[in-house]
Amino acid sequence: MNLEEIKKKAIENVSSAKTTEELQNIRVAVMGRKGGLTEVLKSLKDLSIEEKKKIGATANELRDELEELFNAKEKELKKQEREAKFRIDVTRPGHKISRGNTHPLSIIDKEVRRIFSSMNFSVVEGPEIETEYYNFDALNIPAEHPARDMWDTFWLKNNQQFPISNFQFPNKSEIKKPKTKNQKLLMRTHTSPMQIRYMETRNPPFQIIVPGRVFRYEATDASHETNFYQVEGLMVGEDINLANFKFVVEEFFKKFFSAEDGFASDGEKIEFRYRPSYFPFVEPGLEVDIRIGKGKWLEVMGAGMVHRNVFDAVRYNPDRVQGFAFGMGLDRLAMIKYNIPDIRLFYSGDVRLTKQF
Ligand code: FA5
Repeated sequence: MNLEEIKKKAIENVSSAKTTEELQNIRVAVMGRKGGLTEVLKSLKDLSIEEKKKIGATANELRDELEELFNAKEKELKKQEREAKFRIDVTRPGHKISRGNTHPLSIIDKEVRRIFSSMNFSVVEGPEIETEYYNFDALNIPAEHPARDMWDTFWLKNNQQFPISNFQFPNKSEIKKPKTKNQKLLMRTHTSPMQIRYMETRNPPFQIIVPGRVFRYEATDASHETNFYQVEGLMVGEDINLANFKFVVEEFFKKFFSAEDGFASDGEKIEFRYRPSYFPFVEPGLEVDIRIGKGKWLEVMGAGMVHRNVFDAVRYNPDRVQGFAFGMGLDRLAMIKYNIPDIRLFYSGDVRLTKQF
């Protein structure tokens, strides 16, 4: 083939090429090691100097020209191929994007924090692994005291693994020097130990809530879990009394069971019942029941006036300050609010539950 023919054929083939692969084959056929044009260039050495000059120059020009042609075509085909790959077919059925849901306990937790914050309570948190001192001793529950049986406890074996005794609030300047403490480790059975930790490092007046996870070594049933959530409340100052407690608690529940959730507006239909009860760290102690509409009475929290022995443990003067404390079960609140019959559903990991929220 002479150069003219090579050129003509190449242009024809390139213009009819449909894919980059096809184009590549054409390129090889013309410019590859055994390609038509390459053959011509190779044969130049057998020609006379005159011819070599003439044909050589034309052949080189043609090579450049074809190179450009191939490159342009390649660019065009690549673009087409890319577009074909990502072309959106609007008639195809869509994929439903599955989004995660918020766990009902998280919703309740957030709501509780919001309501108490709006009443000027601060939210603090504490460690889930506690020492015997904070969980029991400082709360007026000495070892061997029968009241310890109220909280079946998961004890931990190796103290060294958990540097819990280093737990401190960030504001170190306010920390009082701790007394010798009972450092045996356990999973906290209630959020009450944070009463002690907080009071050790702060002075009254204050009001706090402590939401958190607690653990009990007990049999599970529809309303009991070995792992559940509580919210502790503590308000301390001069002249704090049970009337203050009643006001705070009733305000909270009226906001918590609000009209938006399908409950009576402004908690109109919530009734409260205060029963005397015993907790070693309060005196007097009580339990609070609520009833919504004509429903059943439900126990929602333990509470009372902070015991003077607790104030002694944190070196407050019990003759100068008073306070109330309460502890409520977050799971139980969620069960009432969302009408969930079994507490174990919260921990089953079953998305059929969470999907509803
Ligand atoms: C206490 O834990 C006290 N610390 C509460 C307290 C704080 C009293 C401050 C006085 C002053 P009690 O063991 O009753 O108390 O638990 C409090 C609430 O936690 C109960 O009313 C209940 O709502 C919830 N609760 C208790 N045990 C379980 C359980 N196994 N599963 C789910 N919720 C539970």
